[in-house]
Amino acid sequence: MAALPEAWADASLGRLPRGPSRVTGGCADTCGLLAFCLANRKGRQMLVTRQPVLKRFWYPVMPAAKLPAEKPVPFRLLGQDIVLFRAAGGAPAALTDRCPHRAAALSLGFLDHDLPDGPALACPYHGWAFGPDGRCRKVPQAHDPLRGMTRGARAHHAAERYGWIWVALEDPIAGIPHIPEAEDPAFRQIDEFHEEWAVSGLRFMENSFDMAHLSYVHANTFGILAEPRPAPVRIEDTPWGFIMRGEAPVANKGISQELLRDSNARTLRIIEGRWFLPFFRASRIDYPSGLTHVLCTGATPIDDRRSMMCQWVYRNDTEEDAPAEKVIAFDREVTNEDRRVLETTTWDVPLDMAEELHMPSDKPGIEMRRRFAALLAAHGETEARLPAEA
Ligand code: FES
Ligand SMILES: [Fe+2]
Repeated sequence: MAALPEAWADASLGRLPRGPSRVTGGCADTCGLLAFCLANRKGRQMLVTRQPVLKRFWYPVMPAAKLPAEKPVPFRLLGQDIVLFRAAGGAPAALTDRCPHRAAALSLGFLDHDLPDGPALACPYHGWAFGPDGRCRKVPQAHDPLRGMTRGARAHHAAERYGWIWVALEDPIAGIPHIPEAEDPAFRQIDEFHEEWAVSGLRFMENSFDMAHLSYVHANTFGILAEPRPAPVRIEDTPWGFIMRGEAPVANKGISQELLRDSNARTLRIIEGRWFLPFFRASRIDYPSGLTHVLCTGATPIDDRRSMMCQWVYRNDTEEDAPAEKVIAFDREVTNEDRRVLETTTWDVPLDMAEELHMPSDKPGIEMRRRFAALLAAHGETEARLPAEA
């Protein structure tokens, strides 16, 4: 495949030296499983809404088709209510969903087209209209509406890429993830899911790189229960996250044979999983049959407990080879298998390695914890703690 150009990212993404690993108690002592301890941070969790640096990343929030030209759409990102709308030329815009006049929700408003520099979002309460930069463009009750008005609505970064709307609440420190296959004419894109899951972003992401869960969670679709030991993976750090490479023998049955155009009962997944800080992955899987697909998933943090699961896929085949409807049906089964288990996990994910037990195949999730800890440290943050009353 083509070399991956680096998504732009600055030094503030942070790194922690690997340093000597410290094996901590429990299973690690008794059966030799892998354990690390990042530092003496016992009892810490990472509550995403209380880590300001997470506001400085791009997140997919909805398919572009769900943001019409004539209607604002609300969204909650990292616990903050925002409103999306289309400004001049259809460009997406995002504002805090709170009017600076008397605090009404702008998402109940409408698009005011009676302005010289393109549509602005009008408040439902008194009709003040705000542009994509948050500046007040109109006060219908005033003769000289903008005189002396120094404050407007709060604006956020918004963009449209890969057919999805992306938002960064504050100035981003990394680009929107770069997906080379999206620019390759050999690939088509199939939009799959946009739905709320009761799972935190880190739990979601580590699952996407966890080779040991396939045999159990996906035993009914492609996992092989009788072969629970996954092959080791290789991880390469990148400025924006990491790339995990490995191979996984998987079962090939039912609709999967049709979608892979392979009638063998088993096949091999050759995996190049790209993780982008904080909660996005693009997992490329090459099959012996020549099929390649790239699963792109954002676990966009709605709040500490919930994520908006945004998923689409690139495939180097055609609608005749594998109808999108069947591709989605298979991935529906697979994602439901994950969801059933993931929604039982705790959402206050500890970065402290001493709080959970670990095994060698957990390495990607451990690397994620290391990178999150480094990111927080680079921005002078420590992991926010779970409030005592929760
Ligand atoms: S509250 Fe929005 S215009 Fe008055
Ligand atoms: Fe899974």
